[in-house]
Amino acid sequence: MAMTGVLRPGHGAIRVLDLEEAVHHYRDILGMVETGRDAQGRVYLKCWDERDHNSVVLRQADRAGLDFFGFKVRDKATLDKMEADLKAYGLKTERIPAGEMLATGERVRFELPSGHLIELYAEKKAVGNGLQVTNPAPWTKASENGIAPVRLDHCLLYGPNIAEVQKIFTEVLGFYLVERVLAPDNETNAAIWMSCSHKVHDIAFVEHPEPGKLHHLSFLLDSWEEVLRASDIMSMNGVPIDIGPTRHGITRGCTIYAFDPSGNRFETFMGGYQPYPDYEPTTWTFDGLGAGGGLDYPQRKLHETFLTVVT
Ligand SMILES: [Fe+2]
Repeated sequence: MAMTGVLRPGHGAIRVLDLEEAVHHYRDILGMVETGRDAQGRVYLKCWDERDHNSVVLRQADRAGLDFFGFKVRDKATLDKMEADLKAYGLKTERIPAGEMLATGERVRFELPSGHLIELYAEKKAVGNGLQVTNPAPWTKASENGIAPVRLDHCLLYGPNIAEVQKIFTEVLGFYLVERVLAPDNETNAAIWMSCSHKVHDIAFVEHPEPGKLHHLSFLLDSWEEVLRASDIMSMNGVPIDIGPTRHGITRGCTIYAFDPSGNRFETFMGGYQPYPDYEPTTWTFDGLGAGGGLDYPQRKLHETFLTVVT
């Protein structure tokens, strides 16, 4: 697939209740690299193998959750075109000047009917992954710090009107539907997994009455062994685990859901398959989410927290 349009998830900006406790979690336990702090006090981090300056931004606030989620697009012409397309579709957009986020160019922000703020941007300073670009080693010391995921992979968001959200991502932003869970009516979608790439998901949504909620930010590991090692590190450090280690039937990802110190859920996972835009989307019935193994294939049960705990 030619990589044009939206390239990948670029940043998740999340609210935390205690900044230094959160920095300890994301930097020392999850094992991200701290790359900067800005005048507002926000802390910027990246996964070791990411090339751009940041993928997670932490902001201290009195409630946890997601401020905004951003996608990197191919270039400035793409950014201008997508902003025009969003406006033509009927959405209001806002330009946030370059430099408002450290090392990040101009961003185009819009609000989804689910209540989430989504951003597109074309430029972020490349700081590299600590490896040479000529004859590089396969890994570096940073890849051994904590859980050490390779990248921010996707997010799952909860909010209303996901049928509208699906139209915006597929008709305006060039994503395609990979998997879905039907609502109990067997017609509408209760949950959708969408891709802008060859990944099994770049963003996912669950229909939920409260707008703007975060279910999880997800971080990619290279192997099942690393997922098990992640669960050891979580347990050693008192990180509360929600589900796993186990395998999702949906996407086939091998996963752990756990919580940061503010109650924001995060996922460390490996695997999944490689879909193409011409594939027929996989459909799960609402019963299939639980008894069919959609959420937890080995245990085939709908963990209560999956549908109820969000920030
Ligand atoms: Fe996930």
